[in-house]
Amino acid sequence: MEKMLKDKVCIITGSGRGIGRAAALMFAAEGARLVITDIDEAPAAGVVEEIKKTGGQAIAVVGDITAEGFPERLIKETVDAYGPDIDIIVNNAGYTWDAVVHKMTDKQWQAMLDIHVTAPFRIIRAAAPYMRDNAAREREQQGRPKCRKIINISSIAGLDGNFGQANYSSAKAAVTGLTRTMAKEWGPYNVCVNCIAFGFIETRLTQAKEKGGAIVRDGEQVAIGVPEKIRQMFTLMCPLGRPATPEEAAASILMVASPLADYITGQVIRVTGGI
Ligand SMILES: NC(=O)c1ccc[n+]([C@@H]2O[C@H](COP(=O)([O-])OP(=O)(O)OC[C@H]3O[C@@H](n4cnc5c(N)ncnc54)[C@H](O)[C@@H]3O)[C@@H](O)[C@H]2O)c1
Repeated sequence: MEKMLKDKVCIITGSGRGIGRAAALMFAAEGARLVITDIDEAPAAGVVEEIKKTGGQAIAVVGDITAEGFPERLIKETVDAYGPDIDIIVNNAGYTWDAVVHKMTDKQWQAMLDIHVTAPFRIIRAAAPYMRDNAAREREQQGRPKCRKIINISSIAGLDGNFGQANYSSAKAAVTGLTRTMAKEWGPYNVCVNCIAFGFIETRLTQAKEKGGAIVRDGEQVAIGVPEKIRQMFTLMCPLGRPATPEEAAASILMVASPLADYITGQVIRVTGGI
């Protein structure tokens, strides 16, 4: 049987670890040519190595997707490596920076908008010549262009809200607006644009906060993780009774990326175990 993503050029942001990494490995197993992009160099290089070991193709583009000029560099390096055509973008990179509203700083608020919605917007805009414009030419030459895809990763926090996450929830809600709008703007070019809203996936982002996990952003320590009590509450609320593995989450991204979903666009798909 032909591989589902044979030779497709796919960019997955935040693919050094977690859901993005699992998606990259699955996409590569289905024949895709990957761009692994992450702020952390070692994990990104590790994923590239894993893919190459199994005979796949991958390059790493390391950097902060919120940095000025990085989205444009990401697209340029993709095109330099694989040629002037892009099939799939998965806007997945993200993190949380929690606080209740009355204690939230402007920096915390803005950081979430920057990573979850501004960076995807800039990446899509920079990719327009290699997605929308290529499709416009194909439409002129052959009628219907080939199907290209954008998959934006959101969260049920963006749909339902979440205590202590006004910044993250607002940014993830904006991802829905971006998705629906892009589906309308680029639908005529056969670019399917969908959003996957995850519930509770077991990754570094959702590890027990009590473990003291932190990342550094703009020279500031940002505590990540979910308090153990809340992790337990989510598990109890979840009809399937457990968080998903990164692979289970990534499988839904592959499903939407695959030709089986070529008529699905403008949708927000909840992958939550039933929450
Ligand atoms: N884990 C969950 O339960 C859950 C639930 C809903 C939504 N999500 C979303 O899924 C996506 C992936 O999260 P995950 O759970 O795999 O987390 P993760 O921390 O395991 O992976 C996220 C990756 O994004 C990278 N990243 C973070 N900031 C970056 C930046 N500025 N530039 C480039 N790369 C950056 C990190 O280095 C990391 O490798 C995120 O958008 C997250 O909001 C996760």
